[in-house]
Amino acid sequence: MEATGRWEPAGRTGPSPAGATTARVVVVTGGKGGVGKSNFSLNFSLALCERGRRVLLVDGDSGLGSLDVLLGICPERHLGHVLRGSCSATDALVRAPLGLHLLAAASGLQALGDAAAEEVTRLGTALGSLSVAYDVCVLDAGAGLGPLVHALLAAASERIVVTTPEPTALADAYATCKAIIASEPRGETWLLINMAESAAEAEAAARGIVSVCRGYLAWSPRPLGWVPRDPRVCRSVREQRPFLLASEQGPAARAMRGVAAAFCSESPVERGPGLRDLLLSLVQRVGGAASGCQEVQARGLWRTPLPRGGARS
Ligand SMILES: Nc1ncnc2c1ncn2[C@@H]1O[C@H](COP(=O)(O)OP(=O)(O)OP(=O)(O)O)[C@@H](O)[C@H]1O
Ligand SMILES: [Mg+2]
Repeated sequence: MEATGRWEPAGRTGPSPAGATTARVVVVTGGKGGVGKSNFSLNFSLALCERGRRVLLVDGDSGLGSLDVLLGICPERHLGHVLRGSCSATDALVRAPLGLHLLAAASGLQALGDAAAEEVTRLGTALGSLSVAYDVCVLDAGAGLGPLVHALLAAASERIVVTTPEPTALADAYATCKAIIASEPRGETWLLINMAESAAEAEAAARGIVSVCRGYLAWSPRPLGWVPRDPRVCRSVREQRPFLLASEQGPAARAMRGVAAAFCSESPVERGPGLRDLLLSLVQRVGGAASGCQEVQARGLWRTPLPRGGARS
């Protein structure tokens, strides 16, 4: 079966969120490293651009950002400069293909995760002035469930949990879902299956996560779509050209367009806080999120037995 990227039956169709004043702020996460979050964030953003959306892509991966590398560019300015106040957010923007704007990751130790509260406040204020200019802000949060990722998940208006069908990735995606629900999130949480060998494998993986979440958390993420394993993705990474452009008719690119179409067909019920408020709320939450993580771990919720053939409960 050809990978359309959308679940069958296809997602609802509907108007794009016209007249919106703040961007849909979507945090891309997944728990496990290497499941394809950055490639997804970049190519999903480009697919949204193809659909006429104005998109800001922020590399929020603490000190390990890779979006500039995936694009084959070397930005002079990045998030670190905005955090330090040495340039405006507008001046730090990099123009990428299809009109996409990128705010590259802070390099080395000068990372969002290490930023002082006043630096994040400065960044929030700086980005606030930008948010009206975009329809969607996609933020690649990186792997793991540290305090910053935890806070981002809680503060976003929507989240996309990326996983592969492998049990280890599913277990980490489930742990991410548990962290999300513990933070009483607003707006939708989506599930994206990446590197699936077939529609059947992707559907089984999504069904597994959804049913374990429903069973143990009385809540579940909503399947957004899936992207097949496609060797063109690895090739495009080596060539430093997003696969949506380098292999535009390949299975992964076609699937990504289906995922973007499904996303655009949804008008979020709740707009969420917008970029500025998201970052400002981070300042308040990072301390609380860290202690929240410890509390959840102390209650033994992170490492409970893995149900047979499924994710961790
Ligand atoms: N759909 C796909 N088909 C084939 N390979 C893929 C696909 N998606 C991602 N990959 C491969 O997986 C590798 C890891 O992808 P990526 O860097 O996007 O993961 P990540 O989740 O962002 O990793 P990290 O947790 O380190 O930030 C890439 O080098 C790419 O080659
Ligand atoms: Mg990454």
